[in-house]
Formats: sequence, structure tokens, C-alpha cells
Amino acid sequence: MFLEFALAFLIGSIPTGFWYAKFFHNLDIRQHGSGNIGATNSYRVIGKKAAIIVLFIDLLKGLIPVLLAKYLDFSSENVLLAGVFAVLGHLFSPFLNFRGGKGIATAFGVILGFSPLAALCAVLVFGAVLYFSKMVSLGSIFGVLTFWIYILITKEMGPLWWISTVLAILLIVSHRKNISRIIQGKESKI
Ligand code: G3P
Repeated sequence: MFLEFALAFLIGSIPTGFWYAKFFHNLDIRQHGSGNIGATNSYRVIGKKAAIIVLFIDLLKGLIPVLLAKYLDFSSENVLLAGVFAVLGHLFSPFLNFRGGKGIATAFGVILGFSPLAALCAVLVFGAVLYFSKMVSLGSIFGVLTFWIYILITKEMGPLWWISTVLAILLIVSHRKNISRIIQGKESKI
């Protein structure tokens, strides 16, 4: 089990957006746009193709460890925990001196593998908030909260609830600069 968690962390820590920008465009994406290494900033700084590739690989980084944990017959709690380790890898990547991205695409992969219905709810809320606000970060935050509420409603208050709470806190804290910009009305829109 611990080996799977370590593997999940390692997979999550692959800095897709950073490497893509470095290898194909010879730029440090952390010095451009929002400074994030995710798909949104890849779109902002490089373009649509980069965003799609980064989004897809970052999503797989969350999906693969969760599907592997399911295949290994882990309990639901440990399946979600494997996903949390993948997100932790993305947030604190050893390849980037234990700094990283904001974890949304990877978390979406985790949620998709854990519960496709929860992923559908989260993506619908994300899409609606993005449509009206034009802010990816605000949509992401609401998407995260949707998953947390989904677990709250559909599961008993127990380990699963705590693990989803930790996941939600990690993702919301990773958006702290976005939250501050949203409050000040300075968040970039698409
Ligand atoms: O997934 C990250 C997104 O929610 C915000 O990205 O680049 O606008 O900070 P960015």
C-alpha cells in the first residue's frame, strides 16, 4: 500500500506544464502569466495545443494511481488517499524544489477515477461558474467544493469525508493568490 502511495506521489510530481514549456518553447512558464505550471497558464502563455496536452497528462497523473489502487482492491478510503498523494506530488514536486502547481487537473483525474458521477457534478459546476465569471480559478474552487459536498451528502461522516476535506483544503489553499486577486477584482479572465 505504501509503495502505491509513493508511486502515486511520484506520478503526480511530473511537472508536465513546466517541462512542456521548457522543452518545446524554451521558457520557464513560472515566469509568465499567473506563474502556474497548469493547463490554464499554458493556454495563456503558449496556446491551446499546449493547454490540451498539459490538461490531459495532468489528469492522467490523478486517474492512473486511483485506477491502480482500485485494481489492487484497496478500500475506498485508500483509493482516495492514493489520489491525494498524486495531488500532493503535483503541489510539492521534487522536480521543482518541492513547489508545483495548483492540482486541479490532477484532482479531476482523481475524482473521475474515484466516482465518475462526482466528476460529472464537479465539471458541470466548474463549467457554469467559468461561463458566468470567466475565471478558471473560481470555477476550479467551486468544482472542488462540489466534490466535497458530494462526499458529504453521499457518504457517512468518516475517514472518506476527512480525506476529501484534506483534498479540498489542499486545493483551495493552492489557490490562495487567486482568491486574493478575485476579492480585489484583479483575477485574470479568459
Ligand atoms: O488549475 C489552475 C486554475 O484553477 C487557475 O490557474 O493560472 O489562472 O492561476 P491560473
